[in-house]
Amino acid sequence: MKLLKTVARGLAVALAGALMLCTAQARSFDDIKKDGKIIIATEGQFAPFNYFQGNKLAGFEVDVAEAMAQKMGVKIEWKALSFDALLTGLRQDRWDMVIASHGITEERAKAVTFTEPHYCSGGVIIAKDPAIKGAKDLAGKVVSVQTGTTYLENVKKVASVKEIKNFPQDTDARAALVSGRVDAWVTDRFVAKASLDANPGAGMHMGDFLFVERIASAVAKGNTSLAGEVNKALQAILADGTYATISKKWFNEDIRCKAPQ
Ligand code: ARG
Repeated sequence: MKLLKTVARGLAVALAGALMLCTAQARSFDDIKKDGKIIIATEGQFAPFNYFQGNKLAGFEVDVAEAMAQKMGVKIEWKALSFDALLTGLRQDRWDMVIASHGITEERAKAVTFTEPHYCSGGVIIAKDPAIKGAKDLAGKVVSVQTGTTYLENVKKVASVKEIKNFPQDTDARAALVSGRVDAWVTDRFVAKASLDANPGAGMHMGDFLFVERIASAVAKGNTSLAGEVNKALQAILADGTYATISKKWFNEDIRCKAPQ
């Protein structure tokens, strides 16, 4: 009997331990503040939003995150991972926040908590043939997109498309267009603009918006303490001119979401 009890107690303790491991809690803003640093993950392959300049992360979102962290009184520890790993790792509490140009979608909002948007944009159609401009021009065409993106979701809705080729990185989706393996590439308007400016000889033309979206950071589902602080910091940089300066530096315009979005 005594032995049974000991075994039962041992099992109960082991079970409790296992449960604690499974429910590893997202860090609240208080935990992060005490630690002095917030862990933020991004991709680093989506210029001019997040990319590598040599071995250093740079871009609009890197600057926005640094400015917000400054308001929050914490330092950032950056992590760079493939796009499809970002929200998954957030759900496993491997980092506190993700900033990687994620559009706010209902589907994603089931799994993570979005902050307020830090810019508004949308997916545009880019092609070498200037006649391919709008959704209807994609009929019978082969289109490249980055895997796991809203570009893929929205191209899927265009029933007349012949084939969608997806690539782990947006830069590969672009390369497919440049080398003539696809007829069109769908990506963010500002990414397309920067890419066209940087490769004037590639013969790419920017067409219409396929859809528009609001872009936000994400924190673990229900981490309202952190989301609240990020929203406050975003509000502060939008109000004090910091955001405008960063936006002008990268885009020559202010890309914040305008009311009533
Ligand atoms: N805005 C698109 C989406 O929400 C694309 C984001 C791509 N971001 C990146 N870092 N490659 O899916």
